[in-house]
Amino acid sequence: MSHQGEVQEAGDDLAATRLAGRGFFVTLEGVDRSGKTTQVERLCASLAARGLPVGVRGVPGGSLREPGGTPVGEAVREVLLHRPHAVSSWAEALLYAAARAQLVADVVRPSLEDGLIVVLDRYIDSSLAYQGCARGLGIDAVLEVNQRATGGLLPDLTLLLKVDPGRAAGRPGRPPDRLESEGLTLQTRVAAGYDELARRYPRRIVVLDGERPAAEVAAEVERATLVALSALPAVASPVEQGANGVR
Ligand code: TYD
Repeated sequence: MSHQGEVQEAGDDLAATRLAGRGFFVTLEGVDRSGKTTQVERLCASLAARGLPVGVRGVPGGSLREPGGTPVGEAVREVLLHRPHAVSSWAEALLYAAARAQLVADVVRPSLEDGLIVVLDRYIDSSLAYQGCARGLGIDAVLEVNQRATGGLLPDLTLLLKVDPGRAAGRPGRPPDRLESEGLTLQTRVAAGYDELARRYPRRIVVLDGERPAAEVAAEVERATLVALSALPAVASPVEQGANGVR
């Protein structure tokens, strides 16, 4: 049977036996204007249409964006993206990590504990690609800070939408924020950073061609998610289970 068939057949069973108490954490990543936000929305809608428990505590069907998702996170977002200040590379990395720490504590962990499928538009890999690689702080240094900030919470699955940064820059969209204004050189380094991360984490990161029509990308995003969900083990007894979410 196909993985997709298995998931459909599992239906409510999946929520009851595999997601209970641990949830499932999916993140979408890519350079600016890679189409992540559209794909996050489509993925949430398609999982909800299958009757799967996607969303965050208090917002069924909802997704979250980084930086943001909490009052503290939205305030940090404002400082990082919409103010003209020069921000040093480490200040930038630590502000993203601060917003993330709050989001994980307030929303992501509680939602995973509720057995939800949590979909996030950007997470740790954004910091590793933008601050670790493009800004030159180093993947390991930025990872260490973020592991402390999140208590070591990594996604179960990360979907990397690969697009050529030059072509992505030409896509229509809202006016550029501070990082986008830094242009193609930064985005090219970010893209190289993501390639490095995909090599480092081949099991967690699934690379998808983000240049195809949005509907085709959406089908691939959904398929990869269903495959990963169907591979989740049935929930073990509390004694056998590790600390929730720390994988
Ligand atoms: P956003 O408006 O969410 O852009 P996009 O739609 O492209 O995701 O802005 C997020 C910007 O912040 C984007 O340029 C990437 C950057 N960023 C980092 O540099 N580090 C991080 O850890 C995160 C989460 C985002």
